[in-house]
Amino acid sequence: MAVTGGILVLYLVAHMAGNLKIFLGASDYDQYAAWLRTIGEPALPHRWLLTGIEIVLTASVIGHMWSAVSLARTAHLARPVKYAARKKSHASGYAVHTMRYGGIVIAVFIVWHLLDLTVGAVNPAGGGATPYAKVVADFTPSRWYITLFYVVAVVLVGVHLRHGIRSAAQTLGLLNGRNATGYNLLAAVVSTLLVIGFLAVPISVTVGWVK
Ligand code: HEM
Repeated sequence: MAVTGGILVLYLVAHMAGNLKIFLGASDYDQYAAWLRTIGEPALPHRWLLTGIEIVLTASVIGHMWSAVSLARTAHLARPVKYAARKKSHASGYAVHTMRYGGIVIAVFIVWHLLDLTVGAVNPAGGGATPYAKVVADFTPSRWYITLFYVVAVVLVGVHLRHGIRSAAQTLGLLNGRNATGYNLLAAVVSTLLVIGFLAVPISVTVGWVK
């Protein structure tokens, strides 16, 4: 979970930073999207690196979900009968539910997001439009409900990430009695910055700052 989660976090940070290029204007944003497809040329054929990234991402998402299911199974086999005392299990039960159902909603969001901004099948500008045109058409003020959907999904990504960073630190044996507060703070800061950076784009289009 920690390794695939780490790959996904790195992708999210890079994707969020790349999205912010929209504030530099249509040609910068579209040039950036075109550059993603030409990295490594002429040594590599067109779009090889991007295809490689997509394969690693798909494998990471599948590996992450597979690990989550097998961990849940192992935990259930280890303790098929629930704890009688609820004091500690209440907090961990809440986290498990947030991660499990939040993760499912995020997976559904990713499918929608790919159909929307990569393929363009559910985007008003259509598949042939430039990435900038797709983003602006998507979050136009009259489609505020799409922006709202993205807000909910990205906040869920933030919550998932916050818990994930803390769990990864524990899994990797980085936590001790003294640094737990520091890790909690780091997890909160990284996930909050990521949420703000992602949401800046759809919200700016919906309120008319990006046209
Ligand atoms: C909320 C703001 C977001 C915006 C404006 C945005 C924008 C975009 C755009 C324009 C593309 C297509 C890029 C291209 O064709 O060159 C894209 C692709 C993608 N986005 Fe996002 N995105 C956002 C959030 C997210 C989040 C939160 C995730 C993951 C949880 C995500 C995952 C992806 C993935 C996996 C791709 C496909 C990459 C590829 O195949 O090349 N995005 N996004």
